[in-house]
Amino acid sequence: MSHEPGDTQGNIVRGYRHMHNVHYLFCEIRQVNRVRALLRKLSAARGDGSDEWHVRSDEHWKHKQAVHTALNLALTYPGLERLGWGDELERFEDFKQGMYGRAAQLGDSDADRWPPDLRDGAHLLFTIYFDEHPDNPRRVDDLRAELASSGLREVSCQTARAIPRKAGESGMREHFGFRDGFSQPVLETGHRRAHPDRVKGEGVLEPPSSPLGRASWRALRLGEVLLGHLDEDGVIAGGQNPVLKNGTFMVWRKLEQHVKRFEEFFERAASSKEEQEWLKAKVIGRWPDGTSLVESPYERPGRASKRPRNDFDYGGDPDGAGCPLGAHVRRANPRTSLGWWTVRSRRHRIIRRGMPYQEDVEGEPEPRRGLIFVCFNASISRQFELIQRHWLMDGDAFGLGGEQDLMLGSHGDPAKMTIQGDRRRPAMLLNPAGERFVTVLGGYYLFVPGIAALGLIARGPSSRRRRLLAGTR
Ligand code: HEM
Repeated sequence: MSHEPGDTQGNIVRGYRHMHNVHYLFCEIRQVNRVRALLRKLSAARGDGSDEWHVRSDEHWKHKQAVHTALNLALTYPGLERLGWGDELERFEDFKQGMYGRAAQLGDSDADRWPPDLRDGAHLLFTIYFDEHPDNPRRVDDLRAELASSGLREVSCQTARAIPRKAGESGMREHFGFRDGFSQPVLETGHRRAHPDRVKGEGVLEPPSSPLGRASWRALRLGEVLLGHLDEDGVIAGGQNPVLKNGTFMVWRKLEQHVKRFEEFFERAASSKEEQEWLKAKVIGRWPDGTSLVESPYERPGRASKRPRNDFDYGGDPDGAGCPLGAHVRRANPRTSLGWWTVRSRRHRIIRRGMPYQEDVEGEPEPRRGLIFVCFNASISRQFELIQRHWLMDGDAFGLGGEQDLMLGSHGDPAKMTIQGDRRRPAMLLNPAGERFVTVLGGYYLFVPGIAALGLIARGPSSRRRRLLAGTR
């Protein structure tokens, strides 16, 4: 089955890159019947140009500049249970336990300090994206009022906003100063992104089919992200259950970035501004403009490209002399580093759709800053959790023992990152000695249904439909 944009929620396969503001509204279901009626309405409306809110699909992106707002919807496991659909998804143990329930596995040692509204209590997440159109603040207020009068209680509202771009750049930056969000797996959808030029580096590198043949790039199977489609194992992700069809799992995580601490650490670690820049690039694996260290290991590139190149792998840099073995991007997507082309990394890819946030806190001179990390995947444990737990928070897979990602790690003892040397520079050890640059403040695991499945969920589980489903599971 090929990609069905009209039945898939937006911002998964293609990002809403032209809308720079987001409100994440977490809500609790108070009156089930009224909420069902609201979901029926939101999933049935087609967005005919009127002011009416509807759940936006992946369709109509040819004219995306005419789209000023987008609403998307996701449910937690308790939310699905409340609507009578818990048993359809209870076999997804990771989703069912939720992020807070799995904090120990994730290395989130201070999850007990997460505020209650960011660990459980939410049933539904309404994500509202919008551009700078003057009508938008009123429209967003109208939607919030409508939710409040539809049997829902707003548990929390998190706002986020893209950091203004530098001239000539496309894409987003995060608060440590790096371009972010542009390296994404190319999915097998038949649409433009799967063009052969994009597939190289962003897709899957297939082993040669004969001893004298060459390895070749292709797009990642859609089932690695969307349920109801073939995945890299050749099976239909999640099976043929209509409730799962064109759905995906969403990870939502609030990550505070301690920007001042990060800057001061590099000031202490380096002897010049240039060396500071170079060390930061070593930690991330890319220069602030996004150029990979594989491409430019020593010098900051002179002129930033509109879109950083992504058609590289680490085959020519097996020892990490260019891009360190423990750099953030090399850990998070080792590409060919683990051997066997991309056979060992292709089942652990995620689509990232995060957004930076900034918030004032009374009595504090500086705003708090961070990233609302959002990713989509077909299996939370195989994809997000494996990356987080085994690749970012542990170094074993890369021969680095207990070393963690220096930007994200909790840095117990011993805290360090090895920067591999080469003929020009000896190896170095960075040691933040217990300092954390990123703190996890809470989060949720959610399910993002397809549009038709959302209609089904909204109608409620009748016994006849249940029997039908039992036959297709
Ligand atoms: C505050 C937290 C974080 C910051 C500031 C951050 C920053 C970055 C930056 C600057 C890049 C390079 C740009 C790009 O490839 O788009 C990147 C790539 C990436 N990050 Fe993060 N990141 C954070 C957290 C995470 C987490 C929690 C995960 C997953 C568990 C993650 C997974 C990835 C992946 C998969 C890539 C793409 C690597 C590639 O394809 O080469 N990041 N990140």
